[in-house]
Order: sequence, then structure tokens, then C-alpha cells
Amino acid sequence: MPALKSRVMGAEDAAALIQDGTTVGMSGFTGSGYPKAVPLALAAHIVAQHEAGNPFRVSVWTGASTGPELDGALAKANGIEFRLPYNSDPIAREKINRGEMNYFDMHLSQVAPMAWQGFLGPLDTAVVEVTGITADGGLIPSSSVGNNKTWLDRAKQIILEVNSWQNPALEGMHDIYYGTQLPPNRVPIPLVRPDDRIGEPLFRCDLDKIVAIVETDRPDRNLPFAPPDEVAFAIAGHLMDFFAHEVRVGRMPANLLPLQSGVGNVANAVLTGLVGSQFENLTAYTEVLQDGMLDLIDSGKLRMASATAFSLSPEASERINADMARYRDRMVLRPQEISNHPELIRRLGCIAMNGLIEADIYGNVNSTHVMGSRIQNGIGGSGDFARNAYVSIFMTPSTAKGGAISAIVPQVSHVDHITQDVQVLVTEQGLADLRGLAPKQRAALIIGKCAHPDYRPMLEDYYARASLSSYGRHAPSLLSEALSWHQRFIETGSMRLA
Ligand code: COA
Repeated sequence: MPALKSRVMGAEDAAALIQDGTTVGMSGFTGSGYPKAVPLALAAHIVAQHEAGNPFRVSVWTGASTGPELDGALAKANGIEFRLPYNSDPIAREKINRGEMNYFDMHLSQVAPMAWQGFLGPLDTAVVEVTGITADGGLIPSSSVGNNKTWLDRAKQIILEVNSWQNPALEGMHDIYYGTQLPPNRVPIPLVRPDDRIGEPLFRCDLDKIVAIVETDRPDRNLPFAPPDEVAFAIAGHLMDFFAHEVRVGRMPANLLPLQSGVGNVANAVLTGLVGSQFENLTAYTEVLQDGMLDLIDSGKLRMASATAFSLSPEASERINADMARYRDRMVLRPQEISNHPELIRRLGCIAMNGLIEADIYGNVNSTHVMGSRIQNGIGGSGDFARNAYVSIFMTPSTAKGGAISAIVPQVSHVDHITQDVQVLVTEQGLADLRGLAPKQRAALIIGKCAHPDYRPMLEDYYARASLSSYGRHAPSLLSEALSWHQRFIETGSMRLA
């Protein structure tokens, strides 16, 4: 469009349009589809401002985690005052944990509604990566959708990055639903199968708000996954047995129910486990499409997958780019308020599978805070899925840090998922099906099935003493001891007794 051509400029000029103290809504979700030039230029601008003695910090909203050119560069420049809703960048993590950056870790499905409801304050600038702009001004989304629709709608000004690295064949993969309303005008979202398309393939926006268009040609972050090890294979094996059992007793159909698979290495390994399983004609209604999902599609086991973003290794990213038109027929990318919507997760009956930091003997789960106070990443979409799933599964190796930490503890040091939202717990040691069980029954099962043998006697001892002298006997607990494992780790470097 000629009108838009005049707004093409360099990243430095575009970044200069962002003011100190303002809020910037950026695209990006698990390292894909984030702007790669403007944030870097903004970081350089901030450093120059700081060197000149001028304060300069911005609030940054995204879909979820991004890449080093965004979170890493801005955090390094000490340029982020406030961040939401999810971060996995190590530099930003360090700043947050040093108390130098405010971080609001929230359910990913709630970001767009909260922005619309006005609870997050005004949005000054949207910086959104797109694959292209159509002749009539439609925006072709890139490798993640995240909150882009909301940022484009809500922002006072828009900066677009048009990334020619993104495959033009992405056009048509997206389903942008414009029907969400605020209460009291909300209506049911008309999606009843994971592959339903209920929206449009392009973003629309008020073209007058576009103040800059920056052309880029840069890859997504695309970090490799750790190859599945014995522990991951064992977890996957327990899950396959569980699924087979659920099908046998008639609680799941032979092709299971729509799969949700969380972030991280273990979740990816479980998907790889499904490739070798007997299950066929699978579907996924999930947040991110990892390598394991591609493997499942390639093996013919996964009929289709719905998500909001790719989260791929460099190898998988090349694979998908080489054959995008074929994958496009098997995948739908949606706004995260739809991919993670509680109404849809409940309706579809998703099988939620998420990782964790630690779980306690009653099945409370900590997904976010190491030793109760150091944030690792954030809750992400795990709460959206865990609470509303048909069955909510959490999985983890039974120990961390070379065995110095037990993932099963007397009491979690931070709670993200309460026992009611944790129905199945799996480690390489075994699987505990907690559905319908009282706290004491849960404790016996979790200690017996999931704890590492090095820590099982310690847990049994704690639980036996708690059962005798706890203030109440519904969920026995020794308050003075419940968090002592964490304190011992902080003091000695190990949860083990000397
Ligand atoms: N204590 C201390 N550190 C622990 C720990 C524990 N109990 N459990 C895990 N960790 C550390 C690991 O040592 C590792 O650290 P490193 O990178 O320094 O080696 C890191 O956490 C990741 O653990 P890993 O075992 O590789 O698991 P993962 O990649 O499967 O990630 C979570 C696990 C919990 C961090 C990850 O699943 C997460 O961020 N979850 C929350 C968000 C979420 O569930 N999103 C999906 C919703 S759709």
C-alpha cells in the first residue's frame, strides 16, 4: 500500500518513537514470532540515555517468553521496569530475582481479557512481527499469535516488523477470532472441535495507527531440546500405560482426547513417546507446538494440532519451513486467549500434561518458584489447562540438581496448582492416580509411587510422625518441619540428611 510504504524506516528510527515510562506490547511466544530489530535498537537507545544521565525504562507485555534480542537485550540495558506475563530469559530472570524488575506472572489466558478490562492500564505502543502485509492492509501473522490481536487493537501507536525469514506459506494457518466480548455481553465461543476455524486468517488494525514498518530477515530463537534420556522415557512409558488403561476401562476414546503438552524437555519427550505408541488419529489442543508434535504429525499419529505458537528446535524449524504448505493443513495457530480458554479446554476435554518444579505429598504443585522465592519461568498456561482439563497430569524427574533436591517434598515452598487441580502425578519412579482420593490416601500413593528411593524413607518418616502428632489429621503436617528440606538445601546444598 503506498500509504504504508512511506512509513518504512530503520529500527533505530522506529525505536525512537517509544518514550520513557510507557508501556509496550510486543509480539512473541516461547521464542517465536517476537520482534527482533526494534527491541535491540530500543535497548541501545536506553543505554545511550542512561549514559547521558537520563532515566529510561519501559513496561513490556508479550504473549509469553521471547528471545535474547528482546527480553535479554532490554533486561541487560536495565530498561524494563515491569514485565508480564511469562519469562524464560536468563538475564531477565536474574534481574527479577535480584528484585530489580517487577514481574507479574499471570495465567496466559487472562492477559488479553485483563488488558481489555482496563486492569493493566493503557498500552502505548504495539511492536508486532508479521510475515507480510496484504495489498488491502491485512497483516499476515508470523510463527506465534499470542496477544497480538489485543496489542494491535489496544495500542495508541503500532510498529510492525515484517520478517522475510518467516515463511510466506504461513498465510492461512492462523485463525484470529474477533468475537470475544466483555461481560455482560459475552457469548459462547463457537469452537467444538480442535480443528474448527472460527475466525479470520489475518489481523486487522487501524492503519492510521501504524507509525513505523521495519523490514527484517532474522530467525526465531529456536533452542534445541535436550534429547530424551532414560528418565524422560520412563515418564513417557508410565503415561502410555495410563492412557492404555483409561481407554480399556472406557474413560477415554481409542484416539484419546485433545492433548495439551506443556513447555520443556520432559513434555517434549512424552510427545516423542507417543510416536511409538499404539494411539492413532490423535488431536492436540495446546499452547505450543514443539518438535514432538511435528514428529507425531510426520508419523501419521497426530491428525491435527491447534496452538498459539511454535516452540521448535533449529532442526524442526527448518523441517517445517521446508514443507510449510503441508503442515499448514494440519495446524491452526490462534490467539492465546482462545488456545488457553477455560471454556474451550473444559468443553473439548483436554488431557493436560505439564512439568513442575516440585510437588508435595498431598499433590500441591509448585511450577514456578525454586526454594519458594526464586522464579524459574512463570505459571504460563499450566493453570489454564490444569484446572479445566478432563484429566490434569503433572510430570517431573523425581530429583533435580544431580539428586541434591527431591521433587517430592513434605510441603511445596510455593503453590501454583492446588491438590484439586492435580489429578495424576508422574515421575520416572511411577504414576500416582490421585483422582477421588483423600489427602492421606494421596500421600501414601505419592510417596510410594513417585518419590526417589533416596528420599522415600525420609518422606515416610516425616509422614508417620505427622500422622501421630499433627494439629489436625485430615492432611497431617508438622509446621516446624514442613519446609525444613528447602532450608537444608539453602544451607548445605542438599536436601539429604547429613
Ligand atoms: N528445584 C530446583 N530446581 C529445579 C527443580 C527443583 N525442584 N526442578 C527443576 N529445576 C530446575 C532444573 O534443574 C532446570 O534448571 P537448569 O536449567 O539450571 O538446569 C530447570 O529447573 C528446568 O528443569 P527441567 O528438569 O529441565 O524441566 P523442564 O524443562 O521440563 O521444565 C519447568 C520444568 C517446571 C521449569 C517448566 O515446565 C515450566 O516452566 N513450567 C511452568 C509453565 C508451564 O507449565 N507451561 C506450560 C503450560 S501450557
